[in-house]
Amino acid sequence: MKKLIRFGVSMEDDLLRQFDDLINKKGYTNRSEAIRDIVRDKLVEENIQISTAEAYGALVYIYDHHKRELEKNLANLQHKYFQYIISTSHVHLDHDNCFEVILLRGQGDELKLIADKLLSFKGVKHGKLILTTSLSKKQKSIHYHKQKE
Ligand code: NI
Repeated sequence: MKKLIRFGVSMEDDLLRQFDDLINKKGYTNRSEAIRDIVRDKLVEENIQISTAEAYGALVYIYDHHKRELEKNLANLQHKYFQYIISTSHVHLDHDNCFEVILLRGQGDELKLIADKLLSFKGVKHGKLILTTSLSKKQKSIHYHKQKE
């Protein structure tokens, strides 16, 4: 169990009211846990900005499967970056649309590059990359080579 340290925070009353409204909506029962989560979130975000940080990603997107060449392009891209891909899930949403989730592992900047390429394909309607990291030092056992263009 890690030692907890108490510290005081001064804040304008209207800012604190807005904060309380927000954390109530999100289901927090006390300010401390909300502040801890915000701090962790910020640390993760900053850590991922270091290009060499070991990161994990979930790339979610919806696409039109009637779009010419799109499924071929998506498959080619996933084969090109297979070293970064942990898994791909595919859901046939309706007659026209498919929903996919790709789980990724690699350096933060490389995962962002893969996501940008995929999401820019014509026929990909909406998508988003969520990145996270364990905040621990990069694992030396996992090494990815830069992809040749
Ligand atoms: Ni489908």
